[in-house]
Amino acid sequence: PPGASTFADDVDTLHALVIGVAMLGATAVALVSLFLLRRYRASDRDPTISVPRWAMPARLEAVLVGIVSASFLGWWLMGVRQYDRMRDPPGDAIQIYVVAKQWMFDYPNGQTQADVLTVPAGRPVSLVMTSRDVIHSLFVPAFRVKYDVLPDRFTTIWFQATEPGEYPILCAEFCGTGHSTMRGTVRVLDPADYEAWLEQAP
Ligand code: CUA
Repeated sequence: PPGASTFADDVDTLHALVIGVAMLGATAVALVSLFLLRRYRASDRDPTISVPRWAMPARLEAVLVGIVSASFLGWWLMGVRQYDRMRDPPGDAIQIYVVAKQWMFDYPNGQTQADVLTVPAGRPVSLVMTSRDVIHSLFVPAFRVKYDVLPDRFTTIWFQATEPGEYPILCAEFCGTGHSTMRGTVRVLDPADYEAWLEQAP
């Protein structure tokens, strides 16, 4: 989905970079393979003549290994910096507690308030999460955030939504037969609307 948090651009850039470079590498390997396949096809040669052996010069090998290693190191550095930023909410973040529990929709008394998470746009929001039954994972694809929610333990994530709107929440950890229906919605409001909603919320 289109990005709707301040993390989205960085995550998408790294994602596209890794996939793009991997595709280029795979294409290069495939082309070299096809060339060698054609060049050294057994039926084309006189079996009495041996093909001269070619050894890669050490310098070329060092360059190739260096490029590959530097790519992985670069991606790792980008990833670590993003991870670090995602793990450390700003001090002024709004803190919201999250309790995960499967089959909450099944309660006959109409308790559905946990389906919707209402937050303001343009302000950091920090979630403090725990579970009442098994391991779940709170996943908001549009925000590019996902984190496990564990029983008997608190975990946290934070995000800053950029655009008012509604964004799906999924559970990204298989938690039983109701896993695929364990869904919710983040409702992002203009800050003024959010304040008004806070006033009238019970
Ligand atoms: Cu909760 Cu899957």
